[in-house]
This record gives sequence, structure tokens and C-alpha cells, in this order.
Amino acid sequence: MNKMPEFAILKVGDKEIQLPLVRGTEGDYAIDIARLRAETGMVTLDPSFMNTASCYSTITYIDGDNGILRYRGIPIEDLVKLGSFTKVAYLLVNGKLPTPEQSRNFSHLLNISSLLHEDMRHFFDHFPQGAHPMHILSTMINALAAFYPNVDLQSLSEDIDSSTARLISIVRTMAAVAYKKSIGEPVVYPRCDLKYCGNFLNMMFDSPVRPYVVRPEIERILNILFILHADHEQNCSTTAVRTVGSAQVNLYATISAGMSALSGPLHGGANQEVIKMLRLIEQDGNVDKFLKRAKDKNDPFRLMGFGHRVYKTYDPRADIIKKECHQLLETLEIRDSLLDVASEVEKAALNDEYFIERNLYPNVDFYTGIIYRAIGIPEDMFTVMFALARLPGWIAHWKEMIGHNTRIVRPRQVYIGKPRTPIF
Ligand code: ACO
Repeated sequence: MNKMPEFAILKVGDKEIQLPLVRGTEGDYAIDIARLRAETGMVTLDPSFMNTASCYSTITYIDGDNGILRYRGIPIEDLVKLGSFTKVAYLLVNGKLPTPEQSRNFSHLLNISSLLHEDMRHFFDHFPQGAHPMHILSTMINALAAFYPNVDLQSLSEDIDSSTARLISIVRTMAAVAYKKSIGEPVVYPRCDLKYCGNFLNMMFDSPVRPYVVRPEIERILNILFILHADHEQNCSTTAVRTVGSAQVNLYATISAGMSALSGPLHGGANQEVIKMLRLIEQDGNVDKFLKRAKDKNDPFRLMGFGHRVYKTYDPRADIIKKECHQLLETLEIRDSLLDVASEVEKAALNDEYFIERNLYPNVDFYTGIIYRAIGIPEDMFTVMFALARLPGWIAHWKEMIGHNTRIVRPRQVYIGKPRTPIF
């Protein structure tokens, strides 16, 4: 293979400048344009950042052409086998898998941080009936700054550690409280004898008249789903976290911004939209009609759970989830007709020229909703599940950003408005 040169040459008019090439550890190259404006007076234009790396990062590696995903160098397939979301959360936030002692300490920290301030519990009474839980949650996370010590880039590392554990643990409690309030049942408190995912299931589904027993296969699948969603490098919500955090906002407000970004239907909201779409297709009974609509540029309909900015092959997470989905439904002896519809849609799309040409494959969200339905999670909580899983990723990126002396994020623009238009 030809050796890459050390710089790219850019010619603008008569002027020629050299732009250094930087290389990632997996062999990716990028053109470093840090000196571009100073040397040419020009900026680059890249709407939606289709070609722009916004930072260096050591957290997650994705090879979208080959369907590879690794956290801190470890393949996602191995992390799924590890089967512990809290260990993977520790890995993302701290850079290494925990030793048994670190794991015990982290679990202890999660445990003692799991209770919601009693005064905050009353906030839930004042949201209108039917409010989306993602809106409730992003508001509540922002409010944490008024109840707990704030951390920002000047904070001591032990304060950052305790706020990290608080966020990972307490947002789970908040999610369960929001659900219990929405169905008018008494709130269930976290229990110190249950692990992270089992505790969440218990807070969601236990009731004084219908005691809940955590089934190991459901606890296992929740760990897997959370591991698969825990980070995905510079996606929309993580970029929101890095951008807002760069203004030196406290960690809670920063995470709340990520939460808001995730709620969009093109991002974390897609898992809920997939179920709506599958139901619509099932009612209609005509898969081809919906494929046709997805291909029609004059129709806003898109095949939800299909396509990805980075993956141009099968999303490795979707691959794992699809198998797990079939296996879980079999184990729980659940027959969900939406799984049949999903299989039919996938088969039709993967054989359709439009989807083949554009490399549109199922993404992580295509099968997750069917699993969540099977374990009793209501549809408007699907995105909340994604958000709980993504917390360690957001926190890891925030920590990485504050450690790099990052300057405030402030893109440029190309102004195409009116020229000077005086009114006097
Ligand atoms: N259905 C139909 N056509 C699609 C779809 C889809 N789901 N996704 C992309 N396309 C088409 C686009 O219209 C475009 O066609 P064109 O080249 O003829 O103009 C082409 O494929 C390229 O797509 P882009 O829009 O450039 O893809 P982009 O990277 O901007 O968007 C996104 C990625 C938002 C995920 C998109 O594929 C989409 O909307 N998918 C459905 C929503 C979804 O599943 N989101 C979850 C993403 S995963 C996550 O956030 C965890």
C-alpha cells in the first residue's frame, strides 16, 4: 500500500497551503484544518457534519463499512457476553473494565445514590397527564443541579465519580417513578439486594397487590440492550453533550441537553416509531405499499429503524438484537405478530433496489421495541430505556472533553442573508 503523505495541499487562487494529516489508531486519516482560517481567511462548509471529525476520542470505535463497534477497544460482541451493564458503564467512564474490588465499590456507589430526594418526588405530581416521559426526565435531570452538589470541569475527581454514579443510578429511579405516577400506582423504592437492571424492573413492575419476581432471562436481556446502547461515539445527543458541556455548564444540565436531543424521532425516538409503523403495516397488510411510500421523495414517510449515518452495512447491534429477540420470545412463549411483520419488512427492504443502492439496513432500533413490548415496557418508555443505557456514554464523553482543555464549541457559518439594509 502507498504510504500516506504527511499533509494535504490546498490551493486557493494563487495561494497554496499545507494541511497536516492526522492518523487515528485504526488507520483512519483526517485533514487537520485548524490553521485554515488564519492562513486563508476561509472556513469550511459541512452542513450536518457529514465529513467533519469534531474531536479526538479514545472511547468508542466504529467501522461503519464493516459493521464493527468497540468500546475502549473491546468488541461489542465480547461485552455482550460479559453481560453486565454496570461493568460496561465503568469501562466507558473510566477507560478500563473494573477489578472485582472496583466493581464492588462502583455497585456500592450506585446503590447509595439510587434514592431520589423526597422533595423531587413531588415534582412528578405536577406534570400533565400524558406528558412524554422523555420530557419529564430531561426536566428532572436539569433540576438535579438544585438538589445536589454541581460538578463541572473544575471539580475534584471524587466529586465527578459520585455525580457519575448518581446520574446513572438516580435517572433509573426517576424513570420508574415517572412510570408509576403515569399509571397511578405507588412508587417503588430501589432495593439494595437487587442488581442494576433487576432493580429497575422491580421499581417498574412491583406493586403491593402484585409482587414482581425478577426473571433472570429478562434481567439478562435488559443488560444486553443497555450494553448495546451504552455509547456510539459522536452521534447527535453526544455531540449535544459535548457542545453544551464546552460552555462549562454543570454536568446535570449537560446530560439533560443530551436527553433532549435523544428524544427526536430520527435518533432515540425511532424505537417507538418503529412499533407504530409495524402496527400500521400490520393493519394495512401491504408491505410493498409502505416500501413504495418510503422511496417516494414527496412522501415524508421513512422506514423507521432503517438506515444509519455511519453504518453502511448491517448494524452489528441490530444483528445481536435480532437473534436475542427471537430467542427471548421463544423462551417467554410469547407470540408477537409484529415480529412477523418486522421480518417481512426487513426481507422486502433488503431485496429492494432502493435500499440496496443506498446501503440501508436495519439499525439498532428495528427490533428493540419488540423486546421491550415482550418484557412489559410501555411504548412511550422505549426512548427512556435508550437514554438510561446511553448515560455512561454521555458522561464518558463529557469527562474526556473536560480533560482536553476544550474551547467552547462555536462553529462558523456562510452568511447568505441580505446585504447591509439601513432603515435610516
Ligand atoms: N427510509 C427511506 N429512505 C431512507 C431512509 C429510510 N429509513 N434512511 C435513509 N434514506 C434515504 C434518504 O432519503 C437518502 O436518499 P437519497 O440519496 O435519494 O436522497 C439516502 O437514503 C441517504 O440517507 P440520508 O438521509 O443521507 O441519511 P442520514 O445519514 O442523513 O440519516 C438516519 C440517517 C437519520 C438514521 C436515516 O437513515 C433515517 O431517517 N432513518 C429512519 C429513522 C431511524 O431509524 N433512526 C434511528 C437511527 S439509529 C439511532 O439514532 C440510534
